[in-house]
Amino acid sequence: MSFDLEQTKRQSEINEIIKSYLPKEEGYYKSVIEAMNYSISAGGKRIRPMLMLETFRLFRGEYTDILHPFMAAIEMIHTYSLVHDDLPALDNDEYRRGRKTTHIEYGEAMAILAGDGLLTLAFETAAGAYEKIDEKALDALNIYRRIMRAYKVLSMKAGIHGMIGGQVIDIEFVGKSVTKERLDMMYLLKTGGLFEASMMIGAILAGASAEEVDITRSIAGDIGLAFQIKDDILDITSSDIILGKPVRSDEKNDKPTYVAIMDLEQAKEEVANVTDRAKKAYESLPYENEFLKELIIKLITREK
Ligand code: IPE
Ligand code: IPE
Ligand code: MG
Ligand code: MG
Ligand code: MG
Repeated sequence: MSFDLEQTKRQSEINEIIKSYLPKEEGYYKSVIEAMNYSISAGGKRIRPMLMLETFRLFRGEYTDILHPFMAAIEMIHTYSLVHDDLPALDNDEYRRGRKTTHIEYGEAMAILAGDGLLTLAFETAAGAYEKIDEKALDALNIYRRIMRAYKVLSMKAGIHGMIGGQVIDIEFVGKSVTKERLDMMYLLKTGGLFEASMMIGAILAGASAEEVDITRSIAGDIGLAFQIKDDILDITSSDIILGKPVRSDEKNDKPTYVAIMDLEQAKEEVANVTDRAKKAYESLPYENEFLKELIIKLITREK
């Protein structure tokens, strides 16, 4: 099977897992649940849960029951970050994942609340992993520990020490000139944060050692950095139809981006170099997952 077909197949499997954790649209607060499901069901590449699952496989993880809630949780957090990122107070975009953004469809107040709802549901969902532990199993205590470590990583990387921290710097640098070092630091947080969480959680839940988790973190940070530079490039080279979100959004907002501080060819070279660094570190690990390796490389040439 070709890589692209295989990726599509795995994406559908991930969609089924995510769907199984989405709330039913019923009750007095049904409207906010509809808005939450609207954004998360719109699709998206599901890169973060995919990286989590493939890293878990890389480290020969066994208990997929405890992994699935975390896969759904990371996509809930990512989706909430997009709902809020698109708000008029942030990037003010009206199109996302091929649909009108949540605030255009449901109004700003509901989009803020739907984002909050997704964020908190993510932690409720991830915490549910403990219910899947077989209490009688010899390694039950060990599995509890892995879940708690994963839970802490999820909280840290989604918050001020990760995605939120990066989003804050992104906002504060609007209209200002910025060095490459500053941009790297911002990208490592705003995008790298959730990539690090995804791969670290896959490794932790599989039982990887502290040293392996650390190598995984640095690989994931580089993948996130390359992913965001590529996102900057696509913002000027792609189209609304292909991306499912508006191009030229960064220019409109006077955002500090890679393509604002260097020319397009140089930015493309950066994506290739950073990805190569990630690939080399990945190859230093004494395990193999061909699909994961190809996925990392494919992110350089992605068109959406
Ligand atoms: C968009 O992420 C936000 C960035 C960090 C660049 P994705 O490109 O993964 O968006 P979806 O999930 O496929 O919609
Ligand atoms: C990443 O930056 C967004 C988040 C970390 C939420 P962008 O603002 O560039 O993402 P897009 O282009 O809107 O998807
Ligand atoms: Mg943004
Ligand atoms: Mg944006
Ligand atoms: Mg962007």
